[in-house]
Amino acid sequence: MLTGFGNHFSTEAVPGALPIGRNSPQRPPFGLYAEQLSGTAFTMARAENRRAWLYRLRPSALHGAFTPLPEPVGHSARPPGPNRLRWDPRPLPETPTTFLASIVPMLSNGDPAALTGVSLATYAATRDMGNQAYFSADGEILVIPRQGRLRIDTEMGQMAVEPLEIALIPRGLRFRVILPDGSASGYLAENHGAPFRLPDLGPIGSNGLANPRDFASPAAWFEDRDEPFELVQKFGGRLWTTTLAHSPFDVVAWHGNLAPVKYDLRRFNTIGTVSHDHPDPSIFTVLTSPSDMPGRANADFVIFPPRWMVAEDTFRPPWFHRNIMSEAMGLITGAYDAKAGGFAPGGLSLHNMMNAHGPDAASWRAATDAVLAPHKIDGTMAFMLESCWPYRVTDGAMALAQPDYDAAWSGFPKAVV
Ligand SMILES: [Fe+2]
Repeated sequence: MLTGFGNHFSTEAVPGALPIGRNSPQRPPFGLYAEQLSGTAFTMARAENRRAWLYRLRPSALHGAFTPLPEPVGHSARPPGPNRLRWDPRPLPETPTTFLASIVPMLSNGDPAALTGVSLATYAATRDMGNQAYFSADGEILVIPRQGRLRIDTEMGQMAVEPLEIALIPRGLRFRVILPDGSASGYLAENHGAPFRLPDLGPIGSNGLANPRDFASPAAWFEDRDEPFELVQKFGGRLWTTTLAHSPFDVVAWHGNLAPVKYDLRRFNTIGTVSHDHPDPSIFTVLTSPSDMPGRANADFVIFPPRWMVAEDTFRPPWFHRNIMSEAMGLITGAYDAKAGGFAPGGLSLHNMMNAHGPDAASWRAATDAVLAPHKIDGTMAFMLESCWPYRVTDGAMALAQPDYDAAWSGFPKAVV
């Protein structure tokens, strides 16, 4: 594996396959085809510029027309609404289902055609993707496993990913998912905006949160298989399919700073108060996709990992709040400290722009009465996909929402003045 985030890597599966000193020589080694994959516009500033050069057995342009697949029932999204919503974890399917076929869109905002917004889906798969590859033209894909390991084969190499790790697959990169444990479930975010990057650290300094050296990209890997492959892409919110006469995983060497990457969330260097008051959750940001307004994220991927709570005279769980940002939350493992029940691993919740939420009554009572000794929150990992755009909910998700999430905020005694 190649370590770092946004580093310029060079890797070859066959010695001598990577051209030296030329990106597109007249005759690349072994007759390979040179192809650039760009993740940003050509003229983005150097620090923001992301691209890779792929050296492959055949040009990836070698395919026929894509035809649209029928849109599954329940995948279309409703206009954004103010209601707080929560979902139970979805079960594994009863019939063999691939990772791709199992993707159920839940929440979305922005517009892929306008290069804005983020979407959140779940997956629950029981069958390997065989001679099939997938890519999204609509955005980069963040895979957040909850149960079961994944082997993600991409054009640029193979990644083994397990729960408590995440994988980030660049927009347009072809991949397939193999299930080493026979089944797997989790979450899938799709970022339609600027590519995810590590947040600036400001007064924190040069270390902390997710450190660049803990990100890993795969070495070059390829397969030479002349047999039919289905290639599915997401474009404009719809799935399109075509057939290839060969495996698309035929990149023998590559170099560049646009690459798939994985990260172990257990390596996150969590920062928090050592005096009083509960910092804003932005302190837990792993990756951020900026919008056009500085400081306002198109999407932030935030985690709530194991950590020590030591603040004095402080309400330690999340306080009550109404935020301008919209919040989608998932739970990878354990329990979340602001809810006594109803939010199970694999579950999901939505709190859209300006709509009030916070701890339930039981969590509020326990935190209010607690004797504030140092305490470690352990064995948990929740995440939040926060966005400046309110989320739309799909018809299918709306049908599956818990019937009375609002009741989580019942039973609070009135303050007496
Ligand atoms: Fe919140």
